[in-house]
Amino acid sequence: MAPRLFVLLLFCLATLPRDAAALTRRDFPDGFIFGAGTSAFQVEGAAAEGGRKPSIWDTFTHQGYSFDKSTADISADQYHHYKDDVKLMHEMGLDAYRFSIAWPRLIPDGRGEINPKGLEYYNNLIDELIRHGIEPHVTIYHFDLPQSLQDEYNGLLSPRFIDDYTAYAEACFKSFGDRVKHWVTVNEPNIETIGGLDSGVLPPQRCSHPFGNCTWGDSTTEPYIAAHHLLLAHASAVSLYRAKYQATQRGQIGITLLGWWHEPATNSSEDAAAAMRMNDFHIGWFMHPLVYGDYPAVMRSRVGARLPDFTAEQSKKLPGSFDFVGFNHYLVVRARAHDSAFNMKQRDYYADAYAIANPFDDIQEGRLEYAPWALGRLLDHLKLKYGNPPVMIHENGYADASELPRKVEYDDDDRSEFLQDYLEVLYLSIRNGSNARGYFVWSFLDVFEFLFGYRMRFGLCGVDMDGEGRTRYVRNSGRWYSGFLKGGELRP
Ligand code: NOJ
Repeated sequence: MAPRLFVLLLFCLATLPRDAAALTRRDFPDGFIFGAGTSAFQVEGAAAEGGRKPSIWDTFTHQGYSFDKSTADISADQYHHYKDDVKLMHEMGLDAYRFSIAWPRLIPDGRGEINPKGLEYYNNLIDELIRHGIEPHVTIYHFDLPQSLQDEYNGLLSPRFIDDYTAYAEACFKSFGDRVKHWVTVNEPNIETIGGLDSGVLPPQRCSHPFGNCTWGDSTTEPYIAAHHLLLAHASAVSLYRAKYQATQRGQIGITLLGWWHEPATNSSEDAAAAMRMNDFHIGWFMHPLVYGDYPAVMRSRVGARLPDFTAEQSKKLPGSFDFVGFNHYLVVRARAHDSAFNMKQRDYYADAYAIANPFDDIQEGRLEYAPWALGRLLDHLKLKYGNPPVMIHENGYADASELPRKVEYDDDDRSEFLQDYLEVLYLSIRNGSNARGYFVWSFLDVFEFLFGYRMRFGLCGVDMDGEGRTRYVRNSGRWYSGFLKGGELRP
């Protein structure tokens, strides 16, 4: 064989995807980060300890609005068990732990003085992680808005949120930035705003179409206003970080969005257009301003004057205001062009309703589905439409919602399979040119699940939520993940 042809053949063989079953972590790019995550409200407990004050989620759960009527007052009690948890993470072989700082623990009134006990807790947690060789990936704001800011000026609905958030973010950079090299400004602004200010199923429960327990709000405008403020707060924190801290602290900063992928329910061109519209209304809502400085054209034309405008200066500041974008990816939503709308924002894009109220019904009815290929679609979309930004898959995980006693140590091989399927797609997407840089399982431990309470379990490790000691159990999936992280095959 001519030498040139031989080299070409070798090249082709070398670039063919390996048998995915035999994949190991070494097949992912150098420096690719594998981790797992939680968030402060869901896992810390110690709700009234160490100077912490209530967030809107404390108020909501104390009014009995989570489906199992539970609160997160104790939850997995990571506040008291963080050393055990870090040890478990280390044994599991995690490169990184994604967690959030509770704003009402660090700055209990939302603005003003830092709470020394809060500072001490996060210093201890971060130091413990670093001592064990685990990188802290820190979310600054993960839904737990201080109640005082909600009471004082309606939280996200006021532009005052932007200044208070920026000051809080600066307190985080100043206090922890010497050790934290990965910051997420805001988690899932696209779900927080729809759930809290449109359907009203999440705090602060505002909506204009009486549903459940929501109080009066204007669902036709409020989600858009709140999202606008979150985007500006994000950009403000990033420009502050870049101006004052990044050169010396040498960290990276980004934002994390819910990345449900919308796919047409049928092969009609109308449904195909509806799916793209839904992707624009959910992903583009944030990605478009972050890349191009304004909302997607389809949002401008459909929402009209109800969609806030950016000033020229803001439109300049937003593009590129991230070093990576995080995506939490779980599900596919089947889009239909003509269907009922569960909430007002859906009426704007006029497509199938997906139920924030109860995803499990939707899974059964075929509106929502687990489909690993959809992660590939999402990554392709980011590549084609948004310039292939560095991406962190910040959440991906499998919920078990069967009725079990809360003290549980069960075999969860279905969870391992779920994660294996997604990791395989992720690997192929990277080979296909996607810029994914990390993958985090949701969740490291069982936690209080927003809205659902303790019936829904995502943990690689289970927690005995009734026992005083909050004993942790490593599930089969945790053992499998650990084997993979330590060099084993994806499907051993
Ligand atoms: C989204 C949220 O970021 C997280 O807090 C939640 O528990 C999971 N996804 C699962 O719903």
